[in-house]
Amino acid sequence: MIHCWRLDDARQTLVLGVRDNHLAEAIYWGPRLPDDENLEMLYGAHEIDVTGGMLDVNPELSICPEATRTFPGQPGMVVRDETGKSVLPAFSFESVEQSETALTLTFTDAENGLAYRAHFAIDPQTHLITLWAELEGTRALNLHWLSAPVLPAPQLSDEMIDVAGRWCGEFQINRTPWSAGMRTRENRTGRTGHEHFPGLIVPCRGATNTQGEAYGFHYGWSGGHKMVAEELPDGRRQIQFGNATQVEDEARTLFKTAPLYVTYSNSGLNGCAVAFQRHVRDRLITWPHPERPRPVHYNCWEAIYFDHNLPELKEIATIAAGLGAERFVLDDGWFGERDDDTSSLADWEVDPRKYPDGLTPLIDHVRGLGMVFGIWFEPEMINPDSNIYRAHPEWALGREDQILGRNQLVLNMALPEVREFLFERIGKILADHDIDYVKWDHNRVLPTPDADQTRGTYALLDRLRTAFPDVEIESCASGGGRTDFGILEHTQRVWLSDSNDALERLKIQHNAALFLPQCVTGSHVGPRVCHTSGRVLDIRFRAWVAAQRHMGFEMDPRELTDEEADVLRRVTAWWKANRGWMYHADILRLDAADPAVVAEQHLHEDQFVVFAGKADTSDQISPRPLRFTGLNPDAMYRVDLVNRDEIARVALSRGRSMLKTGAMKVSGRYLMHHGVTLPWSFPETMWVIEGHKI
Ligand code: DGJ
Repeated sequence: MIHCWRLDDARQTLVLGVRDNHLAEAIYWGPRLPDDENLEMLYGAHEIDVTGGMLDVNPELSICPEATRTFPGQPGMVVRDETGKSVLPAFSFESVEQSETALTLTFTDAENGLAYRAHFAIDPQTHLITLWAELEGTRALNLHWLSAPVLPAPQLSDEMIDVAGRWCGEFQINRTPWSAGMRTRENRTGRTGHEHFPGLIVPCRGATNTQGEAYGFHYGWSGGHKMVAEELPDGRRQIQFGNATQVEDEARTLFKTAPLYVTYSNSGLNGCAVAFQRHVRDRLITWPHPERPRPVHYNCWEAIYFDHNLPELKEIATIAAGLGAERFVLDDGWFGERDDDTSSLADWEVDPRKYPDGLTPLIDHVRGLGMVFGIWFEPEMINPDSNIYRAHPEWALGREDQILGRNQLVLNMALPEVREFLFERIGKILADHDIDYVKWDHNRVLPTPDADQTRGTYALLDRLRTAFPDVEIESCASGGGRTDFGILEHTQRVWLSDSNDALERLKIQHNAALFLPQCVTGSHVGPRVCHTSGRVLDIRFRAWVAAQRHMGFEMDPRELTDEEADVLRRVTAWWKANRGWMYHADILRLDAADPAVVAEQHLHEDQFVVFAGKADTSDQISPRPLRFTGLNPDAMYRVDLVNRDEIARVALSRGRSMLKTGAMKVSGRYLMHHGVTLPWSFPETMWVIEGHKI
């Protein structure tokens, strides 16, 4: 007996099928199928043959592969009872609930007293499918591993793309060839982590940024994940995503995975990227004031570090406002006796030595300049050298002899009294001051991973947001250590990296655009001499790289020459003039013919801007044409260089490249198939090209 169900949007279809009341299998996931496709026929058609050396029937590659079915790969769950004995489930189909866009399948295992529910929801506008699984027991169970519903990976794919990273080097792309066996990534740091971003893209053969088929996956959880991409001996491939293993401390009767977001694209990696970007922007984020444009940030961290001094801060704020900043963020160092990173975390009271009259004089000054005010916290952390630790050493997670990270310990967020304390302290600062923004940091890994920690943090964030609905929150963890869709359901911005080196940032944010939209991705203009790389970069390059995302400044503005200030003012004004439509734009990564060029096109309806960053010197002597994407081939476009003023600086550009002197009017087809020939340029520069449909 076969039962099948389908979920569709205009671009894709996912078909699930059950035979003989076994667990369901995803029997098809790809381009939208005809409405009258016979799904039972598909179930039969998808089955692979049996030959010598195989079982007599191939075990299903189900949404939760079961060891009891002699599945030849990784099972979808690993559970033990309270005595430590393995529980080996064998589920039977129980019931289905279906609407036009959602499907819940329930399976039970009477012998083991288990119920397994798999949820699927498709979003017809964003093209994301959200999947999650629940496991319920009639008795308490110990969970080692539970995957979100398992999906097959395509066979016509030679490699998988996932994301590694480090402090100041987030979002590095890995390409791993498929081969028999599995690629596992597991983040056991207890936070999303710089090391293993919870995402995967499986391109089909020949796919590039702009063309071909690809499948995208992202696991929306901030406590560390595990991914399994496995090719079975019979050639079938499965993708599993779930919380890192062994992060449930206690036996329980109910476990749930976080949401797994997936999509099929027929427009290259960009099709996946756009689905993720739009879903984050239009579905996951809740803005305190959606009607307000994203304000230009000024963050004082790299200007003053812990050395807070009111007259200086006022002077810096005044200059920042003059450059175009609209939100002033007071970073680490305003509380306890925090003169360096050895003390005071958890002592969330204003330092009277630095602010004898409290924060109000600074906030009033900032507000008087027309800016809003933001402040830094690192709520989950505590220094052993703090009043709160001396009063409550039992609030810290882990053993007393554990290794510290940045001289700090982690608070146990599972304890209600810890959450209560943090709500009260943070709440008091927010209630007593005119604050519209919190930068929420998390600068060390957990002593051991623990899912309750993440749940506790989410609960505190929710409570604070309910109490202070006007306050926006940025997720930071030594830069991009907590960047995922789970945290973005509770916050509105990510501090993508501590690297304000524009050259590094260009690449980091370009890769992050596979998952993140412009409006949540912070990017700041750093100091002339970068503090984390020592590189010296021109203000034009620094400013344009920041203008690709949610723009801000993070240097001592007193270091700027008049010329640098003028450039920064002009680029910031350009950003403000364009931020309205750029908020809605898709970031499309371009297939640059020249590997020295990192280029992307922000496209919204009939308008676009291309940022072509020159990350290196080129092998060939003259620039190769850069192909655009996503345009109407038959429409005419007016294309012009935004920063033509920079040509005068490139004496080595001696030719007649058209954009040097004026706009060009060409068809979408020309732009997408021949591409635009840009003027010659130095490395570490950026051409910015605007386009409008005529
Ligand atoms: C790490 C963050 O990533 C920085 O931006 C800054 O906020 C420091 N922490 C402050 O300690």
